[in-house]
This record gives sequence, C-alpha cells and structure tokens, in this order.
Amino acid sequence: MSIAIVLGTRPEIIKMSPIIRECEQNNLDYFILHTGQHYSYEMDRVFFEELELPKARYNLDVGSGTHSIQTGRIMAGIEKVLIKEKPDVVLVQGDTNTVLAGALAASKLHIWVGHVEAGLRSYDRSMPEEINRVLADHCSDYLFAPTKGAKNILLGEGIPADMVYLTGNTIVDAVRQNVEIAAKRASILDELDIAPGQYLLTTAHRQENVDDRIRLTGILKGLECLAREFDMPVIYPVHPRSLKRIREFGISTNGNVQLIDPVDFMSFLQLEKNAGLILTDSGGVQEESCILGVPCVTLRSNTERPETIEVGANVLARTEPWSILDCARIMIKKERTWDNPFGDGRAGEKIRRIITMV
Ligand code: UD1
Ligand code: UDP
Repeated sequence: MSIAIVLGTRPEIIKMSPIIRECEQNNLDYFILHTGQHYSYEMDRVFFEELELPKARYNLDVGSGTHSIQTGRIMAGIEKVLIKEKPDVVLVQGDTNTVLAGALAASKLHIWVGHVEAGLRSYDRSMPEEINRVLADHCSDYLFAPTKGAKNILLGEGIPADMVYLTGNTIVDAVRQNVEIAAKRASILDELDIAPGQYLLTTAHRQENVDDRIRLTGILKGLECLAREFDMPVIYPVHPRSLKRIREFGISTNGNVQLIDPVDFMSFLQLEKNAGLILTDSGGVQEESCILGVPCVTLRSNTERPETIEVGANVLARTEPWSILDCARIMIKKERTWDNPFGDGRAGEKIRRIITMV
C-alpha cells in the first residue's frame, strides 16, 4: 500500500500532520506532495519546522492565481507525479483548491482517493470551498467524516455507506499533540505584553469577507467597538490575502486593534487557549476554539461546522459591527462547559488503519 499525501495550505499542513506522524511511526510507504498553494514562510515552512514534518518529496510551486489557473496548474502537476509514483491511494484534506485538484487528478487516473474531513456543507455555493467540498466528496472512495452530522450528510447525498467512515477530525489530534508543548514553548503572550483572559483574538480571511470592502470594513469597525467596550486589546494575526485588501481599500484601524503577522501554530494555540473570546471566519479556528473551551463568534452568516453552535461554543454574527458587538456581549460570558464534538484525538490512527486495512 503506497500513499500520496497531497497538501498545499496552512490548515492542510496542520490537519495532515497527525496522519503523517502515523505513516512515519508505522513505517508506511508514503510521500508528501506539496502543491505550493501557500508558499510564504509564515503560511508554509514554519509549520513543517515546528511540527517536525519530513520535507515534501515534490513541491509543485503553483503559487497564487485565479481559481481556474491555480486549480488547473495543480491538476497538471499532480497528474505527472501520480503517473510516475503510481500510489495506491491519494489523501486530501479539507476544501481548498489543492483538495479539488488532487481528488480530480487522482480519480481520473483510477487511483483511490481518501477525503479527510468529508461531508461538511455550508449550503452556500458562493463560497469557493463549498464547490470544492462537494466535488471532492463525490469523486472520493474513502470519505472520512469528522462527525455523525457530516456522515449523515454524505449518506443523504447517496454516497454508499461502505465508503463513509466516522473518524473524528484530525484537528483534535493536532491540538492534543501540541497544546502542552505550546504552553511550555510559546512566549507570544509575553512578546505581545498581554495577560491570559485579558485580550480578544481574531482571524478573518474568507474571500467573501475580505475581498468585499463593506464586509471587511464592518469587521474592523466591529473589532474597534469591542476593544473599546471590553477595554481589551484585540489581537489579529493577518492572513496575507486580508493584508493585501486592507491596504488596497485603505482601511485604517485605531484603538486597540493590533494587526500582527500570521504566527506559528504553537503561538496561535497559546493565543487561542488564553483568549477571553475568539472572533473568526476560519473553519479551523471555529473547531479549535470549541476544542479548547474558548467561546467563539463567527464572522459569517453560515457555517459548515454546526456542531460548534449546537454545543453552545459558537454563534454566527455576520460582519456588521452592531451584530459582532451583540454576539460578543453574550459569548464572552458563556460558561465553558461544552463537550468537544470532533472526536477523541485518534482520527489519524483510525484513518491509517482504514487505508492499510489493519
Ligand atoms: C486558501 C483556501 C481557503 C483556506 C485558506 C487557508 C481556496 C479556494 N482557498 O485561501 O479555503 O481557508 O487557504 O489559509 O483554496 N498569499 C501569500 N502567501 C501565501 C499564500 C497566499 O501572500 O503563502 C496571498 C496572495 O496574495 C494570494 C492570496 O494570499 O493571492 C490568496 O491565496 P490563495 O491560496 O488563493 O487563497 P487563500 O485566501 O489563502
Ligand atoms: N493558524 C496559525 N497561525 C495563525 C492563524 C491560524 O497557526 O496566525 C492556524 C490555526 O491554528 C488553524 C489553522 O491555522 O489550525 C487555520 O487555518 P486558516 O484559518 O488559514 O484556514 P481555514 O481553517 O479557514 O481553512
């Protein structure tokens, strides 16, 4: 059984890391194919270094581009590698253009595709990620659903039950494997001169939010209002897409909203764990806040992670300042007693056992 692990962006590196660890520990025949969708040091290499992941055997260096150019380049590059390497199974994770391209290229070569984090749906087709998820699921052979809800969605869409596996989400594995190391190693709170519980943490990078001047302005205004009302700094590690738009739209922030460069995973875990409240439009950050027991306000009108809302860890605020403020007032007081709905932290092991049939 030879395995190709395809990844290309920050969240894929983090969420594939438990599976890579499993392959290493069990001496499996596998290799990493990096598409190069993310390439800046702080979006890519920093995670390989701190998670001690082996170097990718291939890096396609596709870089940025329109959706079709990026997806097309990735498909063409992956096809060449798959023809040469002839793996038995290709694993993709999540909902990025890398995932769609990897799943399509492999399935057209009749190579089995395993989709990690299958069955998520926002039912919002204006999100590029929703198209990627649906298409990747429907050309996959192994569908690794993180929750019962995701599994039921796949069954409801007619995917045969013997192709769907309930494994939990590998992000639980990644958080558990790193949160204690982060507590010992990361000094980000000292560096930013902030105290546990005395700051708010935010990330926003969704195309439909940050490429829209009104929505991006609404988010930043909302954050300024929060910093004033709660008398706490808001720490915002800014994704490169968002930084580009903030500059292009000429939006300035005042008050206590601190825009910083994206940080490494250990530092980000530390920031999340100690935050008074998290505000985000990120998929992974909604999950991590729920797992770490920190209330979350999601800067969107929908989510493909409804479990976070069902357990009481998350609410949807959209991007208007008044709505962000209203939701933050409620969530900051929330009792942190919910259960983690994303599994037991052994998703990587389960996925490894399923594909190797042991
Ligand atoms: C992509 C994914 C998104 C995921 C996010 C994780 C798609 C359609 N979107 O969005 O689902 O949530 O990654 O962070 O696949 N840039 C850099 N350096 C980098 C990468 C990007 O400067 O290393 C800048 C470039 O200006 C680029 C822009 O960010 O044009 C957007 O990058 P892209 O990979 O197209 O999409 P993301 O917004 O990162
Ligand atoms: N993350 C990080 N540093 C940051 C911001 C986020 O390490 O400055 C991590 C975070 O812990 C999570 C992942 O990046 O595991 C989420 O990635 P992102 O928000 O870019 O993508 P999404 O999950 O929305 O696809």
